[in-house]
Order: sequence, then C-alpha cells, then structure tokens
Amino acid sequence: MEERPQAAPQASSLSSLREEFRRDAALENVGVHGALVSSSTPYLELDSSDESEQAVPTATRLSTGIGELDRVLGGGMVRDSFILLGGDPGIGKSTLLLQMAHGLLEHNPEKKILYVSGEESIEQIRSRAKRLGVSAPGRIFLAAETQLEKVFASVKELKPDLVAMDSLQTFSSGFLDSPPGSVSQVREVTARLMALAKSAGIAVWLVGHVTKEGSIAGPKVVEHMVDTVLYFEGEGGQTYRLLRTVKNRFGSTRELGVFEMDGEGLREVSNPSELFLTDRDSGLPGVAIAASLEGSRPLLVELQALVAPSGLAVPRRTAVGMDSSRVALISAILDRHVKVRLNDQDLFFNVAGGLKLNEPACDLAAAAAIWSSRNEVAFPGDCVWIGELGLTGEVRRVPQLEVRLQEAHKLGFKKAVVPQASAEKVRIDGLTLYPISRISELSKLVTSWTDAESPGLRRPSSGKEPRRASAKATQV
Ligand code: TYD
Ligand code: MG
Repeated sequence: MEERPQAAPQASSLSSLREEFRRDAALENVGVHGALVSSSTPYLELDSSDESEQAVPTATRLSTGIGELDRVLGGGMVRDSFILLGGDPGIGKSTLLLQMAHGLLEHNPEKKILYVSGEESIEQIRSRAKRLGVSAPGRIFLAAETQLEKVFASVKELKPDLVAMDSLQTFSSGFLDSPPGSVSQVREVTARLMALAKSAGIAVWLVGHVTKEGSIAGPKVVEHMVDTVLYFEGEGGQTYRLLRTVKNRFGSTRELGVFEMDGEGLREVSNPSELFLTDRDSGLPGVAIAASLEGSRPLLVELQALVAPSGLAVPRRTAVGMDSSRVALISAILDRHVKVRLNDQDLFFNVAGGLKLNEPACDLAAAAAIWSSRNEVAFPGDCVWIGELGLTGEVRRVPQLEVRLQEAHKLGFKKAVVPQASAEKVRIDGLTLYPISRISELSKLVTSWTDAESPGLRRPSSGKEPRRASAKATQV
C-alpha cells in the first residue's frame, strides 16, 4: 500500500511543500543525537603526517561478536557505517541480523539496537529471536513499520547505536508518491538512511532482497550509495552460507565469511576448506583439489569433471561453479597441448559444495580434473593443484602461493603441483612440490608418481593394475 503525506494540497504548491518537508526532515535527522554539523566542512591536508587521521582508527570499530562477520567487515563494524546486506529471500539475512545484534551486545553491553521490520510482525520477530536464543533486556528494540519518517521519529526518541532495516524494498518515504520497492523509493530511502548514519553517528544495516529478473529496484541500484556491501549466498539444498564483501570503504573486498544454517540459526564455520572437501583418503578419477583464495583466506575446494562419450552432434558442455567459457578455454588448451580429445565427449564440470570459483589460479586443477576423467586415472587424494593456464599451454604464476600451500599443509596434503615460476622461493616442510611450467608436462608428471608414494593413483574402471612409475619429485 502506498503511503501519502498529509492531506493532499494543491498540485501547484505540492512541490514547494515537499521541499519544505524535506528540509525539515533533513534537519530533524541531523539533530538525532544532539548537535547539528558545524557550518564548514572539516578539511585535512593531503600530505598530513598524522597517521591517526588517515586510517580508520580501530577504536571506531565494534566487534559484532561474530568472527566471520567481523572478517568481512574488515575487522569489525565501523560505528557510523552504512551497510547493505543483500541476498536471495530466505537465505538468512534476518537471522544474521538478529544474531549480530546479540553478539554485538555481548561485546558492547552499553549499546542499544533498533530492529525495524517491514516484513514481519513484532510477534514473529520475537518468536524467531527466542528460537535463536537472542535476548538482551533493555538493549534490543523492535518495530514493525514501513514508513520511513515514522522510523526516524522512533530513532530520534530511542537514540540507538545501531538501526537494522529489514528490508529496503518494504520501506517508503511519504515525500514520494511512488510505491515501496520502486527505484525512486529505494534510492530515497537509502539516501535518507545514509544521512542518518553519517550525521547522527548511527550504524545502519539495510537488508536488500536480490530481485529476480523483471524487477530492477534491487540492492544493485543503491550499492554505490552505501559504505559496505555484503552479499549472502548459498546453494539450494545446501546448509552452508557464504558472506561476501562486494564493496567496502573500510576494508578489503573479496573477503569471505562462511556459515552453516541449522535449527539454531547460523553457525560460524572456522575451517571452511573441510566443508568443501569430501573424503580424501583415496583419489577418484575426475577429481582434483584446487586452492583458491577468497580475500585473504585460502580455500581448498574439490573440482569434479565427468567426461563421457556423447551421442550428440554437438556434445554437451555443462559447468557449475565455474564460468563455462573458462572451462571451454581449459578444454581447448588440453586438446591442443595435452592431446586430450573432447570433441566427441560430453563434459560435465562441477565445483563441489556449490561454491562459485572465479580465480584463474584454479585453472590447473580444473584441467587436471578433466584430464583425470578422460583418462580414467585417479590422482592421489593428498595432492593439490595450483596454477593459471595460458592459451599457449604455459602454467602461469599465481599470487600468494605460500598462503595456499600452508592451508594445504594444514589440512594434511602432501603433494602440490605448482607453477615453476613461483615455486622457487617457496618451501613448506612436509609438502612435496611438483613444479611444472607447461600443461603438456601433466601426463609425464602423473605417470612419474609411483604406487608406493601415491597409493591413490589407480585406474578403477579398467580393473587393471594401477600404473607404475618412478617419482621424480622436486623437494624445493
Ligand atoms: P531468513 O533469515 O528469514 O531469510 P531472509 O531474511 O534472507 O529472507 O531465513 C529464513 C530461512 O532460514 C528459512 O527458510 C528457515 C531457515 N532457518 C533455519 O534453518 N534455522 C533457523 O534457526 C532459522 C531462524 C531459520
Ligand atoms: Mg528476512
């Protein structure tokens, strides 16, 4: 339902009246915590030597009590930040906000939080909070409201330190005629909340449902207006949830937080690699382990390929979790440089656990998985593959090889196939490196692994003895 301002005045005077309302409202908002901003904007010298002016001082950050959330925020929440939390409906955004409120108050008991829902009744929020074990008497306040001006009035009264608005598409300003969720309302609501955050020093969390095609007023429209954009993702049927930083004025982007959703809400996953790796004792054909880097965090992931003879004139190519054109490119490189013929074969490619990878450093693992399936040769379960592939078949260096290898070592991996170019300076005790400079070295490398060293190396489908060869590992 559309909300309109007061009694409708004459059309001619409507715009000037709105202007007046707007100005009043702006002043009201500014005064929420007392003083107005000073008349001149503070300015600082570019070459100032005072370091405290430059970075966001840690004192202005608050822990949300949820380590994974602090991580994606860049080390806690900046006090007056405006954060957009996007994601599909039902992914767990409201749940995360309630749990965050709880965690934040546990760490900062003097704070006050206002949770405004335009979607649920207070009773519904209360029962969810009860189920989640969220409680903080006198510290968390709930409001079921969709009209922005009323929310602002409550903020002025309550003076909370954090306001959570759930969700963007349900709120509307009385100054606009357009319905909630329209582009103009979405922009207006966001701009006004930004003013609230900055002028009153209140942290504002804004939930935005990612809208399906056809509706354009999703979180994307307002991403540029906020300080931080977090997206909550997950695959249908999977219990884990990934929280990604898409934009952050106060920290690095590409950070990743991992959670699992169960009956008691969201649980942090402190070692996400374990989530994406299946039983690794014995390797299987078509499987290779990649070491991706998500922000500052290395993540080991299982890549799977299934190559099977095709009955179709144009064989099928299906890729889940990796860009299909990247997989096509890797297949073409394999065809050209390793003579892996795929033109009469269907190729299905999958990233285990429903994770989406977009790092070129995973190319080599993808190539290895396809090679492994086509040749029906299993790699050892304790081997990780790291490297970017070039069209000419070269295995290119990757950033932060050491960090990736350390994670692999921590998880019990014993072998790592790495780009020659970046292998020279890296040494990890207990992890044998196999540097290669061209993808054409792949077959030779695999046949060089002995049974003794690699019990997982076998050809299950042929029923024959596993391949035997002598290892020429380079312990760098
Ligand atoms: P919700 O936070 O309402 O999603 P959003 O706000 O993003 O729309 O999460 C709703 C889903 O989460 C719902 O399908 C049920 C599930 N859920 C659990 O599995 N366990 C829980 O403890 C809670 C609170 C929700
Ligand atoms: Mg919700």
